[in-house]
Amino acid sequence: MSQDNLVWHSHTVTHAERVALKGHQPVIVWFTGLSGSGKSTIANAVERRLLERGCHSYLLDGDNVRHGLNRDLGFNDSDRVENIRRIGEVARLFVDAGNIVLTAFISPFLADRQQVREMVPQGQFIEVFIDTPLEECERRDPKGLYQKARAGEIPHFTGIDSAYEAPLQPEVHVKAGEWSVEACVDHIVAYLEQQGVIAHAL
Ligand code: ADX
Repeated sequence: MSQDNLVWHSHTVTHAERVALKGHQPVIVWFTGLSGSGKSTIANAVERRLLERGCHSYLLDGDNVRHGLNRDLGFNDSDRVENIRRIGEVARLFVDAGNIVLTAFISPFLADRQQVREMVPQGQFIEVFIDTPLEECERRDPKGLYQKARAGEIPHFTGIDSAYEAPLQPEVHVKAGEWSVEACVDHIVAYLEQQGVIAHAL
């Protein structure tokens, strides 16, 4: 579709003004990892902590977004690319609104995560690698999906017959196969404090 006849409107209320109201910096906290690695669990627990600190946040979660905005997308490579592109655009809007947006998607491809990183100013994309080894995800198998994938019932399953490209230099590396959920959350919250995204706890 041509964008020739579209004009970008400048808003009267500015990004800086919205941010000033919030009391924290707006960022995307981008969780990536295999299915069953703990992304949603840890992201939920981080969001709870942020709420307790009075932060304005929103969690975008793979399974939920695929019920609505991205219900037309499947799991072949091009649909996954489009999935992450749309999430990136939505996350960018949340950041523009001044919020901390947490995203929990496998987001298996390096290039797609890089593309989202480049959508926001430097420092506003915080990649959190939920590093749980495939064997452990498969042992947990919370949704029974690995079992189905091994039985050939789910094609293109990440880690089985579809690739997962681990981050090379994530801002936060969480060994979720070894650490407790609390320890993972502490680690992420500490990073947000160190970076000045949120204030240090009193
Ligand atoms: S992504 O690869 O496009 O980022 P996303 O995080 O949105 O994936 O969705 C992953 C979730 O969809 C998994 O946690 C799992 O519940 C479900 N799922 C269904 N089919 C697949 C598949 N082929 N590969 C991975 N996850 C799948």
